Amino acid sequence: MRITQESAGAAGNGEGVAGERLAADHLEIEGGERLAGEITVSGAKNAALPILCASLLTAEPLVLGNVPDLHDVRTMLTLLTRMGVKVERKGEAVTLDASQITEPAAPYELVKTMRASILVLGPLLARCGEARVSLPGGCAIGARPVDQHIKGLQKMGAEIMLTHGDIVAGVARGSRLRGETLVTDMITVTGTENLLMAATLADGVTVLANAAREPEVTDLANLLVKMGAKIEGIGTDRLVVTGVARLHGATHDVVPDRIEAGTFLCAAVATRGDITLRRVVPGTLDAVIEKLRETGANVTGGADWLRVRMDRRARAVSFRTSEYPAFPTDMQAQFMALNCIAEGASQVVETIFENRFMHVQELTRLGANIGIEGNTARISGVDRLSGAHVMATDLRASASLIVAGLTAEGRTLVDRIHHLDRGYHRIEAKLCAVGARIRRVEARQGEIA
Ligand code: EPU
Repeated sequence: MRITQESAGAAGNGEGVAGERLAADHLEIEGGERLAGEITVSGAKNAALPILCASLLTAEPLVLGNVPDLHDVRTMLTLLTRMGVKVERKGEAVTLDASQITEPAAPYELVKTMRASILVLGPLLARCGEARVSLPGGCAIGARPVDQHIKGLQKMGAEIMLTHGDIVAGVARGSRLRGETLVTDMITVTGTENLLMAATLADGVTVLANAAREPEVTDLANLLVKMGAKIEGIGTDRLVVTGVARLHGATHDVVPDRIEAGTFLCAAVATRGDITLRRVVPGTLDAVIEKLRETGANVTGGADWLRVRMDRRARAVSFRTSEYPAFPTDMQAQFMALNCIAEGASQVVETIFENRFMHVQELTRLGANIGIEGNTARISGVDRLSGAHVMATDLRASASLIVAGLTAEGRTLVDRIHHLDRGYHRIEAKLCAVGARIRRVEARQGEIA
């Protein structure tokens, strides 16, 4: 099995075209409604993506449940299909059969639409001994290099070259990746996932000594164990993996999405609502719940549900993003929207990504009072926001504009919601079901926002 320049650069499958069409859709929100009722949370995007890639590690079928129907998931399924993986999808159930990997390559056309495509690198190298993956570029929230993924795989014995914008990786014929102790320079979520998947089929013991502990990493590790991987230290920052010769098929449900859940919790508190979330893992939201309680919200819960009630204006709460189990960067924008209308002043410090404040300019258009200095945003709560035409710049920024728009006086129009469709399954339908007035306006043909 060889990778050719032509096949690696094969033409796109229309994702870009779909992206443009979606780019023109927008959301209209009539603010001021109190949210009340129940919402069922979907499976986690950031767990589903690595888990889909884990199918590349075995010749036997992987049967997955609770796979969210998101744009990023569809892109990943397209990518895997192009590699020769047979995919069957029925609602939230997805079966993947990678008995034949015909093309161990992730072309630019797909990688440019979704950075998580890099997650095929570790599994392909481990199973096929070779891979060609287009180098992901920076994105709106930061430069986001993948040097730690590459360094780790090199230490495990992979030969890696960067050529024509692609990462071209291989292991000497007849040999496997070898177990090593790997200490990444910083904690990286997809870096940990890539190296963990590679290590399951490596020769010997791999120690990931600075591993990410995000619940999505844990969910992937639990699936890998079901597939026959030998992993110790799951849920800690030290994963010890004893490589095995082969992995087998497994059945697994993707963990519920803590960020989708956290987004709804913020929306409920911002609108002084009363919402119960079903199908959540409350323990994965401890840091967010703690901060919501500081706003004055009443949060209660059980094994797989959470209820949040708020009957007054929120108190402003300062926080700092950090790796799990601390406050997640993926909730920073949504919680900031809540702080915009809270009583008092707050400070939000973003420590994970260097450019994750693009929502600030848009929140300001709605009347928020925010100043930025370096990685710190200073927010003075205002009595109310007023509806305006705003533009989504990335996935979580889009969600923060929705939280803000739900509380604003009058109509808010959110453009470029294709970002939202990457990570939230039918968010407007879920919010309407609990009383929000929000609708998707499909673009007229040819119109690009
Ligand atoms: N970093 C490097 N070199 C590397 C890897 C990371 O310098 O080789 C840096 C990054 O630039 C960043 C920091 O390390 O400053 C942490 O990045 P990390 O690698 O942990 O991020 P990621 O794996 O690319 C995942 C999620 C993100 C989430 C972050 C942090 C997926 C598919 N993506 O990204 O999710 O924000 O972890 O928790 O799991 C989102 O869902 O909106 C999203 C952006």
